[in-house]
Amino acid sequence: MAVNKTDGAECTGGTAPRHIAFIMDGNGRWAKKRGMPREYGHVQGAKVFRRIVEYCGDIGIEIVTVYALSTENYAKRPKSEINAILNLFEEYLGDAERDAPSRDLRVCFIGDRSIFSPDIAERMSALERMTQNRGKRLNVAINYGGRAELVAAVNKLIAAGKKSVTEADLETALYTAGCPDPDIIVRTGAEMRMSNFLLWQSAYSELYFIDTLWPDFSEREVDKIIADYKGRKRRYGAAE
Ligand code: FPP
Repeated sequence: MAVNKTDGAECTGGTAPRHIAFIMDGNGRWAKKRGMPREYGHVQGAKVFRRIVEYCGDIGIEIVTVYALSTENYAKRPKSEINAILNLFEEYLGDAERDAPSRDLRVCFIGDRSIFSPDIAERMSALERMTQNRGKRLNVAINYGGRAELVAAVNKLIAAGKKSVTEADLETALYTAGCPDPDIIVRTGAEMRMSNFLLWQSAYSELYFIDTLWPDFSEREVDKIIADYKGRKRRYGAAE
């Protein structure tokens, strides 16, 4: 029997993931291999991001989360590269606004929005409000850091008067409040680390690392990952 519950011992594979998260790594190396600037890799990466989100929706994946920019990327990479990524983000925002009326997609942004101009920040919030009742969900992690998210969540709870917190309290204060945890986190680009991504939410996520550089990532690989996930046994700490 295919069971996929998160609170007990009887957790087996066989069901497709409800929520897939992607660490879209390898854009820079992909561009370098072609003698092109890193920014070119991000342009290609943004195209693949759109295709993969579309495909996941088509095959019935309910939630997709993508890591578009970490707080550490923002702080440590050259301004020119950050601007290129933020320009791609703005382009995506424009397309998402245009498509929102006809698309069954809730768009959410997770991360520290203080880097955005008031105009962009307002457009992000407006898109979130406009799409909040849609069936499928996309979380775009932008200027996101897992540790910063946890610290912000605790401070939010303290400001609300809490003297101690429970796991349930903390979950209500995360950027991802109300969103189920990722069933599987996929990282492209041959690196095997989490890079400060969804630290709380990944507690029981399955992990999948693949050498393919993000701009070469394809729908076929999504199919393979889902097939692999279906064969895994999730126990959430329970005995076999
Ligand atoms: C990591 O590859 C990728 C990023 C830091 C940026 C990801 C951005 C996109 C896929 C396009 C933008 C999409 C939106 C929605 C803004 P890397 O640059 O670290 O690659 P490397 O490890 O090969 O250097």
